[in-house]
Amino acid sequence: MTQAHTAQAQMAQAQMAHAQWDAVDNYFEQALVPSDAALEAALQASSKAGLPEINVTPSQGKLLHLMARMCGAQRILEIGTLGGYSSIWLARALPLDGRLVTLEYEPLHAEVARENLERAGLSGLTEVRVGRALETLPQVEADGLGPFDFIFIDADKPSNPDYFVWALRLSRPGTVIVVDNVVRDGAVADGDSDDPAVQGIRRMSELAAGEPRVTGTAIQTVGTKGYDGFAAFLVTA
Ligand code: SAH
Ligand code: DHB
Ligand code: MG
Repeated sequence: MTQAHTAQAQMAQAQMAHAQWDAVDNYFEQALVPSDAALEAALQASSKAGLPEINVTPSQGKLLHLMARMCGAQRILEIGTLGGYSSIWLARALPLDGRLVTLEYEPLHAEVARENLERAGLSGLTEVRVGRALETLPQVEADGLGPFDFIFIDADKPSNPDYFVWALRLSRPGTVIVVDNVVRDGAVADGDSDDPAVQGIRRMSELAAGEPRVTGTAIQTVGTKGYDGFAAFLVTA
């Protein structure tokens, strides 16, 4: 077989696998993850405003929602808002006096997110703070918004080690920290990778490994967003 044939066969195989990942996501979404007008409108408004379609999938969004409920979260911190799709799932886990603070660098993303949260009836529980997260996190701390019960890290991946340190700082024993996109098509396994995102994920993992206050793991996922994964940590002390 020529190289072109081999590459073509590999691509066809990858496409078949991906079609199956889509089918399984679609099956479980239909069975277990009913959508609703506010979630649909959030995706539509985000797309219309030209935001990148890199929000968590419905199944992932619901998993975040369930995890936040499982730990009885009353204060949630999200780093990386985009159009607020994951924010809606997370804020819906809160009690009526709960609070979600979500940090976003792009003013347009933040504006779309605020509208989406408003439409979802969640304005009173949520706050979108605009700026580089490493610059807004000190104010979140100074304003006494922590400690948080649940923290979702999903912004620029090279900064993950810094976000992880901040997450710990804004945690209490029992806090759950979830990090999105830690696998990146498997690239994370290559220690020699010069991808700053991969290096960020690896350095964060090494930090976590050396930090006696946390214990964690990472899970690979496939689905409509391709091959990626989540890391999850429990703050123990
Ligand atoms: N959590 C969202 C997706 C977030 S995408 C969801 O699943 O629905 C990542 C977001 O992080 C983008 O909107 C991007 O603008 C934002 N971002 C990138 N760098 C950032 C930074 N330094 N501080 C805060 N947000 C940042
Ligand atoms: C990217 C970022 C994300 O948060 C995500 O879930 C998928 C992709 C990205 O920057 O490419
Ligand atoms: Mg993500």
